[in-house]
Amino acid sequence: MASRSFRRAASAATAVLIVLGAAPSASAFGGPPAGHGTTLRKLAARQDLRIGTAVDTAALASDDRYRTLTARQFDSVTAENVMKWEAVEPERGVYDWAAADALVNFAQHNGQAVRGHTLLWHNQLPAWLTQGVADGSIDAAELRQVLRAHITTQMKHFRGKIYQWDVVNEVFDEDGTLRKSLWLEKLGPSYIADAFRWAHAADPQAKLFFNDYNVEGINPKSTAYYDLAVRLRREGVPVHGFGIQGHLDIGYGFPSDVQANLERFAGLGMQSAFTEVDIRMTLPADAAKLARQADDYRRLLDACLNVRRCTSFTVWGFTDKYSWVPDTFDGQGAANLMDEEYAAKPAFEAVRDELAERRRR
Ligand code: XIL
Repeated sequence: MASRSFRRAASAATAVLIVLGAAPSASAFGGPPAGHGTTLRKLAARQDLRIGTAVDTAALASDDRYRTLTARQFDSVTAENVMKWEAVEPERGVYDWAAADALVNFAQHNGQAVRGHTLLWHNQLPAWLTQGVADGSIDAAELRQVLRAHITTQMKHFRGKIYQWDVVNEVFDEDGTLRKSLWLEKLGPSYIADAFRWAHAADPQAKLFFNDYNVEGINPKSTAYYDLAVRLRREGVPVHGFGIQGHLDIGYGFPSDVQANLERFAGLGMQSAFTEVDIRMTLPADAAKLARQADDYRRLLDACLNVRRCTSFTVWGFTDKYSWVPDTFDGQGAANLMDEEYAAKPAFEAVRDELAERRRR
């Protein structure tokens, strides 16, 4: 990352925010924050780290407080849903970029970078595609063309506006074998290299990432990514980064060897990023659980700060108000940095203090 121009961009962004008049009230942080006026993005810029959040675009349109905090606290945004295949190509060949473009415009207005999420996944695919594959009306050769057209069209649409793209999402199982998705079944394992090549051809500036969960530490799944990265890069496939989602649960125990995992990808000359961090707990939350959660956030961030090539740290939403967790994991929640009223939780303070006090190695 070119740190000087990055810093210039960051201070220009700060100026934009001041013009917008988004003055923080103490309550927006749930109490007076240490270091008045300090925001996560200002602190992260000094560390040459992008600090990001996933954005729920419906909340962005309807909730002023959400919009203000998204702009104030973060210098990178990821579309939580609106860049996924079912959202951008609901009918075959009919693209709808409205919601995604609105987010990109918001980001540009606020001096924020955009992470692209995601080009190829087994979830949130449009019905025309999954049905066509299931009923045989889309055969393997055609599916490959459909994938190529989708990746090329989407990458070209956002060309030059997205700094990191999650090209393939969740392609390995826990045991390190390739997930038996329709992509693997119909196209065979070469679909992964194809996806990266097509993405790179359409937007050569974007850094192209793998992305998955349960790959924070060194385990069979993260090692499968490592081995694949070695092989693809040896073959000249443009794979630039390893995205670690970071959906943790305080009940599972903190993964071991997180920093060593980042270091081995850095050793290949690759970037890494935490892309979807949230740390859930069994409800109700209490002080001990929130303290444990804060410590887990701090440890993930600490690992990233310790490895130069870890270039962005993105949370999967910053408020419990709009979290996907309660809808997905029965009885769990409170996974984000702020509560449903936007009060800062211990996790917010831990992230802020870590960014303020630590120095990049
Ligand atoms: C989730 C969104 O947060 C939800 O709103 C949606 O209903 C399902 O997808 N891994 C990913 C993300 O890569 O795209 C997922 O996002 C969470 C898990």
